Amino acid sequence: MSLRPARLAGTITVPANKSVAQRALIASALAGERLADPPQLRIENPGADIVSTAHAMADLGALSIDVLTDDLLVATCYGAPETLGAPDSPLVLDCGNSGTGMRLLMGALAGLLADREGAVTLTGDSSLSSRPMERVAAPLREMGARIETSKGTAPVTITGPAPLHSIDIELPVPSAQVLAALCFAALAAPGTTRITLPGPSRDHTERFFAFCGVDIRREGAPQTRTTITGPARLALREFSVPGDESSAAFWLVAATIHPDADLTLPSVGLNPTRTALIATLRHMGADITVTPDDTTGPEPSGTIEVRSAPLLSPITIAGAETADLIDELPILALAMAGAGGTSELRDAAEMRVKESDRIALTCAMLTAAGIDVTETPDGWRITGSPRRYPSADAPPVTIRTDGDHRIAMAAAILTASQLAPRAIIADDPHCAAVSYPGFAADLAAVTERRDAPQQ
Ligand code: S3P
Repeated sequence: MSLRPARLAGTITVPANKSVAQRALIASALAGERLADPPQLRIENPGADIVSTAHAMADLGALSIDVLTDDLLVATCYGAPETLGAPDSPLVLDCGNSGTGMRLLMGALAGLLADREGAVTLTGDSSLSSRPMERVAAPLREMGARIETSKGTAPVTITGPAPLHSIDIELPVPSAQVLAALCFAALAAPGTTRITLPGPSRDHTERFFAFCGVDIRREGAPQTRTTITGPARLALREFSVPGDESSAAFWLVAATIHPDADLTLPSVGLNPTRTALIATLRHMGADITVTPDDTTGPEPSGTIEVRSAPLLSPITIAGAETADLIDELPILALAMAGAGGTSELRDAAEMRVKESDRIALTCAMLTAAGIDVTETPDGWRITGSPRRYPSADAPPVTIRTDGDHRIAMAAAILTASQLAPRAIIADDPHCAAVSYPGFAADLAAVTERRDAPQQ
């Protein structure tokens, strides 16, 4: 495969939405008493985070993994067993790299351990073990949960019995993960729980819970309030998980900035709380067409077509907009670098506590590519250029990913899009598998043979 293809063309099926898939897998534990007629979950193209959460749920005893290949995960969901470890010998579940898995499980386990004796410890890899967990643990404690973190991070231990009660809480961070954890716990808390977020966040939890028959609603914008009434039971139903909007993001930006590209992305999630990147790129001048599918599940989906956009305008992203784009900001930086003028990102300090410090690593990557970028405490300023480099005249440079999948994929797109005069190589390209195991193969598949000369 050429690192710097002359043309990007073809059809790519992106992996399953990891927010939706992990909510569904974790819900398998909360289906009530052991299910007589257990539903099956079918997840196509599962990334490593989804697989980690499936293994954690299997280790909990809530599901069996019936099929697991690169292309397909099939699990039968039984509901959690009565015994979940013991206070002096907790059951240990490994969440791998998945912040979503760990945070949502904290809430689900607080609910499961509300009325039974037991204890579960959640562990993760080194990146996950440095991420903040008190933002979930503290509000769960307010609901009555017994949770210990290790100085604010994993390992995290949840102990029961610890009965839960409903709360009315305002969260300081617009985090859909914290919101989801509290909603999982609220299923076991009698009364009405109200959770107010200071800004927008993805609404996959509300959609999935409502699809499973739970009384839940979200109101307001940009500040949102989610109301859920417990005790309630999730009536699991089979549905198909759409493609991940944040994985599609790499192709949306790649085709937009590449001088000769035409990509089609079928079955991508089109949840309105996840489509801010499409609106942002269109605002910059991108050529994107969306055709909705006829879907019946909790999440809308559709086919996205994207073609090169010769002239992109710069953009400023700030305030509530950053939350809607939170996972897409590293790849959006490339569109900013390809636009004629100065773009700015502000109010995005939350990026520093993702799988890596994404502000620092994105800026380091662009600097290594020779792009004019200034790092700020909560974002960056990028002075872009419409110029493209069909051949590389500077030697390649290797950049640090700190094991962050989105940085590794952004590096590959930076090179493939002809944005810089040198190839940018990720130090750990395989970490892309966290969300997108087939990323390199998909890039190869849409790389047209008429390659530009390599240095
Ligand atoms: C997620 C929410 C986001 C996102 C993460 C997945 C979710 O995190 O960055 O990749 O599934 O709810 P925050 O809501 O904590 O910002």
